[in-house]
Amino acid sequence: MTRSRPARSTPTDFRAQIQRRKRLLREIGDGVAFIPTAPERLRNADTHFPYRFDSHFWYLTGFPEPEAVLVLVGGKPGRTILFCREKDLEREIWDGYRFGPKEAQKLFGVDEAYPISKLDSMAADLMGNREQAWYPLGLHADFDARITGWLKQVRARVRQGVTAPAGFADVRTLIDEMRLVKDRTELRTMQRAADISAEAHARAMATTQPGQLEYEVEAELLHTFRRHGAQAPAYASIVAGGGNACVLHYVTNNAVLHDGDLLLIDAGCELDGYASDITRTFPVNGRFSAVQRDCYELVLAAQDAAIKAVKPGAPFTAYHEAALKVLAQGMIDLKLLKGPVARVLETRDYQRFYMHRTGHWLGLDVHDVGSYSVDGKPRRLAPGQVLTVEPGLYIRPGKEVPKAFWNIGIRIEDDVLVTETGRDVLTAATPKTIAEIESVMAGG
Ligand code: GLY
Ligand code: MN
Ligand code: MN
Repeated sequence: MTRSRPARSTPTDFRAQIQRRKRLLREIGDGVAFIPTAPERLRNADTHFPYRFDSHFWYLTGFPEPEAVLVLVGGKPGRTILFCREKDLEREIWDGYRFGPKEAQKLFGVDEAYPISKLDSMAADLMGNREQAWYPLGLHADFDARITGWLKQVRARVRQGVTAPAGFADVRTLIDEMRLVKDRTELRTMQRAADISAEAHARAMATTQPGQLEYEVEAELLHTFRRHGAQAPAYASIVAGGGNACVLHYVTNNAVLHDGDLLLIDAGCELDGYASDITRTFPVNGRFSAVQRDCYELVLAAQDAAIKAVKPGAPFTAYHEAALKVLAQGMIDLKLLKGPVARVLETRDYQRFYMHRTGHWLGLDVHDVGSYSVDGKPRRLAPGQVLTVEPGLYIRPGKEVPKAFWNIGIRIEDDVLVTETGRDVLTAATPKTIAEIESVMAGG
């Protein structure tokens, strides 16, 4: 019998991860870093949630199994060590293939690999005589406790001339900065994730009919994600008809879709760890009404202005401000608010209909890591960063609001890469203009 291989479509080329580990090794100097992956989590009884590795660990290894810890030992040349599960025929019969240290070392390009059961007995040696130890502080209580235990062991060796680390620092602060600027390998995966999600949204538009339930449309999205190999949605899909679109984190997805209502879908797949995040809003019956059209064109204009404000050197806040200006003026023009626009912006009156920010970093996490400010000022955008641009307009029923606007909820969200010269919209293939949407929905 040939040996079974992992069923999932994990990448097979780990050169990028080797480069990332080299860079982190340089950053920790003579220190030592411990980076555990995520634990498996029980759902109920003996059933687990679908396993998702830790994003920082994945970024540095591409190693998909639970019960694994990466150790980087700084210095020249430095060592990269993976602790992982041993091969275990019995467990592999029940749960599937395990790489085991020997194969993991070769395939994932680490210098050394050992059974995870050896970590506790080796950790004190790895930690001793290091000024600084790095790990994800406070992420897992049991890993904090293990680190403390290893520190005790190191300190017990003081009379043998061993010194203990003086400082413990959060390794995520270093990795977050690295993750903020995507490398070529990451961008290839992110573009593919964006393409799959774009197709899923187009399919949702093409198949939606009045009288369907929101979850039937959700099923079309999931169908497209999985048939292209995306492992999961990157976050709980929002499929929100009519007034449900005004609930920002609506995920119940079980209501009937009514003729004459809009449908807001915020959904994106996760492919090989990388998120996509797209929102589209379209009429359930395939044709925008006049008032829906006015509102939609406003959000689209706000998004267009915001996307144009994404460029290297611009402060992160610039594209939110660009969207706000357009939205605030539009709310006045639609008579939802009283002007002048400067006052609406100053008093934040617009928050009645637009209460969230216009986007976030995107990467392994849908709300990706990386600080939004540097030295107390908004971070300047730089090539290789990926962010979302997602203005919206949410009009709940209310006394001062003309009835025609009630329950209109619109958001338009794209994933945007900052380039040397401006930007590249990774999700540009998703139908977006009124003409495009109506054409797709008419079977075009
Ligand atoms: N889907 C999560 C977000 O748009 O931020
Ligand atoms: Mn979204
Ligand atoms: Mn988003």
